[in-house]
Order: sequence, then structure tokens, then C-alpha cells
Amino acid sequence: MSADKPAKAVEETVEKVVDTAKSALQQAADLIPGAPGSAPPTVEEPTEPKGPMPPKKEHGHPETRTPTGAKSGTSAKSFAQQGAFLTTANGARLRDSDHSLKAGERGPTLLQDHHLREKITHFDHERIPERVVHARGAGAHGTFEGYGTASEVTLAGFLEKGKKTDVFVRFSTVLGNRGSADTVRDTRGFATKFYTDEGTFDLVANNIPVFFIQDGIKFPDVIHAGKPHPDREIPQAQSAHDTFWDFVSLHTEAQHHTIWNMSDRGIPRSYRMMEGFGVHTFRLVNAEGTTVLVKFHWKPKLGVHSLTWEEAQMLGGLDPDFHRRDLYDAIESGAFPEWELGIQVMPDNPEETFEGIDLLDPTKIVPEELVPVQPIGKMTLNKVPSNFFAETEQVAFHVGHLPPGIDVTNDPLLQTRLFSYVDTQLTRLGGPNFTQIPVNRPHAPVNDMTRDGFHQHAEHTGVAPYKPNSLDGGCPFFAGAEDGAYLDVPVKVAEARKVRANPASFDDHYSQVRLFWASMTPVEKEHIIRAYTFELGKCYEQAIKERQLQALANIDPVLCSEVATGLGLPAPEPTLPLADVTPSPALSQVGGEWPPDGRMVGIVIDPAGDLSGVRELREAIFSADMVPLLIAPHGGMVEDLPVQRTFSTGRSVEYDVLLLAGCPAPAPDAIPARESEAGASSSPTVDPRVLLLIEECWRHAKVIGAWGEGVTALGQSGTDGSVGVVTGESAEAVFAEVQQLMASHRVWERFPTTV
Ligand code: HEM
Repeated sequence: MSADKPAKAVEETVEKVVDTAKSALQQAADLIPGAPGSAPPTVEEPTEPKGPMPPKKEHGHPETRTPTGAKSGTSAKSFAQQGAFLTTANGARLRDSDHSLKAGERGPTLLQDHHLREKITHFDHERIPERVVHARGAGAHGTFEGYGTASEVTLAGFLEKGKKTDVFVRFSTVLGNRGSADTVRDTRGFATKFYTDEGTFDLVANNIPVFFIQDGIKFPDVIHAGKPHPDREIPQAQSAHDTFWDFVSLHTEAQHHTIWNMSDRGIPRSYRMMEGFGVHTFRLVNAEGTTVLVKFHWKPKLGVHSLTWEEAQMLGGLDPDFHRRDLYDAIESGAFPEWELGIQVMPDNPEETFEGIDLLDPTKIVPEELVPVQPIGKMTLNKVPSNFFAETEQVAFHVGHLPPGIDVTNDPLLQTRLFSYVDTQLTRLGGPNFTQIPVNRPHAPVNDMTRDGFHQHAEHTGVAPYKPNSLDGGCPFFAGAEDGAYLDVPVKVAEARKVRANPASFDDHYSQVRLFWASMTPVEKEHIIRAYTFELGKCYEQAIKERQLQALANIDPVLCSEVATGLGLPAPEPTLPLADVTPSPALSQVGGEWPPDGRMVGIVIDPAGDLSGVRELREAIFSADMVPLLIAPHGGMVEDLPVQRTFSTGRSVEYDVLLLAGCPAPAPDAIPARESEAGASSSPTVDPRVLLLIEECWRHAKVIGAWGEGVTALGQSGTDGSVGVVTGESAEAVFAEVQQLMASHRVWERFPTTV
């Protein structure tokens, strides 16, 4: 036998083991969302010319339309880069893009190097202005299906029963820059573009049903107050600073929106778990010309859930992209986010009020107990944009994009918005032709007589872009009602004097704030108190804190005194009578049960321990539309199990629930191990980072489950036996119980409340 035979056998065995590991890892990658490309890369740089990689399965694209709204019949692929070779912008193939053209190896660089100048010039202009507000966002494509339940109140065709309409949604925060963290305390934007065949409908909504201001002329004021201070440009993406509280404590109509921000609504768990609100009252008109006043609501299938404040802060550092990752991963793994669109329908009376609530005042809600939300359709998000800039960054919404059957009201906030959006987009998108960008192209034929301008993609024909004309045969023609024309509802405008003033009913700044407070459960009240205490505690000026405490006193004395205690200031007496309110349970997030689709399940395993049941558990988690993440001391494989997180890369805030399948001893990189090497006398028998995971999950009121040696790890954390901590004989039994507890999102009993 030759001497190299045993070595060869060992080599082959090693290769086999590596191949098995690779294929198991690949299988895991196919199931665990987040792979960057559509196929795993090779270690060596590929050199054999071939065309662009296919898109990932979750990637979507705006339907391919021409700039004037016709179906183009081209594939979405034709918009992507073409061919196997690197070219100039004009398609000439290049043999080098790593060296500029120089006079000799030592230069200088030659001005004639067109490729160099083209590459650098384009790069120099890659950035466009970010949105002045809502700069940070994430988008997704999907479908809306009408239920037909709105046909009595509106002639909008996309709401007809079974009618399907493509949509693009962009979620956002308001205050932060484009690169800011997702989980900051802020209002979230929830803007939906419905590509209806009667023209685009944009429902440019927020996750909070009221706004800071009643009149759009105050928008620059509230935004200047919320943005970082103009001298130091701090703080980024947050309201915990003097200028914000200075403004809202003086401009008390902002108090209603502010209490929503201070509640758990200001830190959503996920975009998939947010409500959306059109805020303003809109007017619907049916085929007979009868009108009603409505408020739009999006209701998430997964319920409304939030992060805890500590989770939100930790995520700001550990995973600033938490919300966009969650959205993309859910879509990639097939847990498609869904919302029902609903309307609250109120009679259209001359006063435009309902039960004393002024429907033109955007700082007021209509409680759902007074007017229930009626579902009128369902939206499913099922594709992730293929290119963030092309779609999510270039999408342009406008509250004036309305199909026949939906009209605006005289809400003075809405009226200003009608002006603002196009105005800002002219600069942001570099000219007047941004409706021709693929994501903005309507799915209805466009014949608008606007012409030319920067980046004109349409090739208009004819010679008479004016009306009336005879040279183009009179085209385009005016449509009548029978041709589906958009008809402005002929609302009567009250005879009035020209004034700069609000109706007297807008003066009530507190009763609905009190209604919101009164509708919260004790644990939600506790969170609100802590949020105000934190935010005001971050203000420098005592006068501002005192002024906001006065506003809190006018909302509720308990709220005021609890926050005052935290600030170390006296609690003032109310200066206004406190409104007698009937709580609206619909405003609370606590109490319901919801499907756990798309939730993350962390599973701690011990490579030296018993792994029985873990494989079946992973399968069961996938089948329940959730994502299992195995956490082990090291990466790679543990037997045939692929590890997704290690003790050094995994943190509790990534999971919704923690399962312990083992009690891993401190790994070599665990700090106590180092301490014991340095002579420390005692160290725990479980890795301290596992204890940290358990402690954090417990503190954040997450469900924890353990079996086998996992129960020992629980014992060392001191959490065993407490509410929401499940132990059992097998992984299967524990997971069954854990799933039931997950339906209420958190183990609410674990939060201490003093309110
Ligand atoms: C008069 C008051 C308001 C003004 C002047 C205003 C203005 C703006 C502006 C200039 C943008 C950036 C648009 C862009 O660059 O494309 C924007 C974005 C946005 N606004 Fe407003 N806004 C107002 C009130 C509201 C209200 C009440 C809501 C919610 C109901 C809202 C929801 C949004 C959303 C969701 C976006 C982000 C759209 C996107 O994702 O591209 N805004 N707003």
C-alpha cells in the first residue's frame, strides 16, 4: 500500500464531511431569510463570462408600463443591466476599469479617459436630496383586493368585490435622516400607492390617527422643532430634546399626537404590526352623487404590537435596520404581511361634525365604539423591491392622487398637503417628470398635455398639446361622468369672510388626550409615564419641563404627578376642567390574541448536550410560519444542525421567544472563562451570554421555554417557575404551550405597574 493512501482516504472523508455540511448549510439558507444573493458565491472570483444573476425569489418590480401608462409587454428583466460584459453607459465593452488612462505608469492621468470621467461624474451625482420628512423608509409591493362592501358609498372601481389592484407601500419614520435607526420613538408613515385602472390612488397615512397641528401652515414649525437643534445638529431621529417639548408645550393642540408618540404606538414591534390611519376625513361619493364622510383605517392581521423601550434602544445599536429587515425577511419567508382596509362612515352634514366631534379637525378621532370600522378590502405585501433606490427612494406619493369616488374635505391640514407634496418632489426628484419613473407610472392611460422638462421619457406625438385644438383632431377630449371622469363633489362652500382663524371647536386640545389616557391598561399607562419622564428628563431647560407638566396636569393628575416625581419637580394643578370621558377599548393594544406568523424563535443548543427533538422542533417552527434561529457557542454546524447565531453575534432583541434545549458550559470566548483563567474562584456552569439572553427575554416579558438540560440553565438565571416561563419533558410539548402564550405578544403580567 502506498504511503499516500491513508492520507487520500482522510482527504476524501474530510471532503465528504465538508460537502454534507455545505449542503446542510445551503438547505438552511434556503429556509432562513436574509441570503444576500440568489445563489451562494464561490470562494474563488468567477471569471467565466455569464449574464446577470437571476433575481431572488422575493424580489418584485413595478409592473412594466410605458411612461404614459400603457402595458409595455416587456419583462421586468429588461430594466436591469444586460449582457455578460462590463460596458460604458453607452454600451461599449471595457477591458479595464481598475486603472485610469495615464501617460506612462507613473502618470499624469489623461483628460481623454472618457470612461474614467463618466464613472466618476456619475458617482459624483449618485445622491439626491432625501425627503425633508419621512426620509428613512422601507417599501414593498403587493396586491389589494376589494370586498365590494363599499359600493354603496363610493363609485371607486378598485373597491368592487374581487377586484385586484397592484400596490406599492412605503413605511417610514418622520424625523430621522435616511440612515437613522428604525426603532426610534416617532410616528411611522404608512403610504400606499394603489395603481387603479381609473388613475392612481395614494393613501398617504400614518400609524397615529391624529396630527400635531390643525393647520398645514404650522408644518414647518412642528418639523423644525422636532428635527435636531440647528446649531449642533443633535439629537438625531428623536423628540427627547428641548426644541420639540418647547413647541408642543406651547402649541397645545399637539398634545394629542404627542401622547400617542409617548405610548407604545411610538415604538412598533414591526411594520407588519402597525395600524394605519388616513388621519383626515375624506368624502366619498357614489354613483347617485350621494356623499358620506369617512376616515380610512388599515388593520393589521397580526394585531398591533410594540417593542419595549429598552428593546427599541438596544436595537438602535444592535440592529438599526430592524424594521426593514423584519419586513423583507417576512416576505422572503412567505409570511406575507396583510392588512384590512376599513372605513368609518359618518353622514355628510353641513356642520361636518359627528356627535360633537369636528370632522375637519385632524387632532380628533372618532372612537371606534361610536362608529365601527367597516372592512372594505384586504392588502397583501408579497414582494420586496429589486432595487431600493429605483423604487423605495424614487416613489412619490400625493394626497391629491384620487380616483373617482373619493374626494378631499376642507380639513386645513389636508388642504396644505395638497400643495406640499408635488412642490417638494420637484426638487427631490430633479424635475417635473417623476410620474414617469417606473414605480410612479400609473396603470391607467395618460394623456395630459404636459410636455418636455428634465428627463422626459414619453415620446409625445402630434403638434397640438393644447385645448381646444383641431390640428390633433381635437384629442384629447373631456370625459363625461359616463366615461369615468373624476368629478369634484360640488360641495357647498359657506359664505364667509376671509380670515386667518380656526373654528371655535378646534380650541379643545385636551378632552381626547384624556380619552386616550383613560383607555389605556395600567401597563400601557406605566409605559406612557416612563416615556414622558425620559423625554422631559432629556430636556435641559426647567421652564420647558414645567410647562409640559402643566399640559399633563390638564390631561390627568396621576400622569402629571408620576412624571413630576421622576423629574423631581412639583406637580401643578390643572388649569382647565378635566373632561368626563368614556374610555375607548379599541385604543388599547393589550388583551387580544393574534397569529404569530413571521416571529423569530431563538433556540439555544449545547453541542455537547442532548439534541433530541431539535430537528423536529425546527420543522414545527417553519410549519407554523415562524423562523427558528439556532444559537450555539460557535458558527457552522452542530452535527447536522446549521447554527444561525453564536453567543457573540446573537442578542435577545432579535427573538420574540427564547427556547433552551441545553445548558452550554462557558465557551472559551466567554468572559468568566477568562476571569477564571486569571484566577477567579467561581464561574457559572452555563455560558454567561446565555444567562444574559434569558434575563433580557424575561425583562422584556417574552415567553421562555426549556426542556432537558435547558431547565438547568433556567435555574441558574433564577427565572424558572415565573409567569410565561414554560418547562416540560420534550421540545414538542414546550413549543405547543409557548405558541399559545405567544398569541398575546408578551407576558403582560410580568411588567410591574404602579399606576
Ligand atoms: C400640512 C401638513 C403636512 C405637510 C406639509 C407634509 C409634507 C410632507 C412632505 C414634504 C413629505 C416628503 C414627500 C416627498 O419628498 O416625497 C411628506 C412625506 C410624508 N407625509 Fe406628510 N406632510 C404633512 C402632514 C402629513 C400627515 C397628516 C400625514 C399622515 C396622515 C403625512 C404622511 C406622510 C407620509 C406617510 C410621508 C412619506 C411618504 C413616502 O413614504 O414617500 N404627512 N410629507
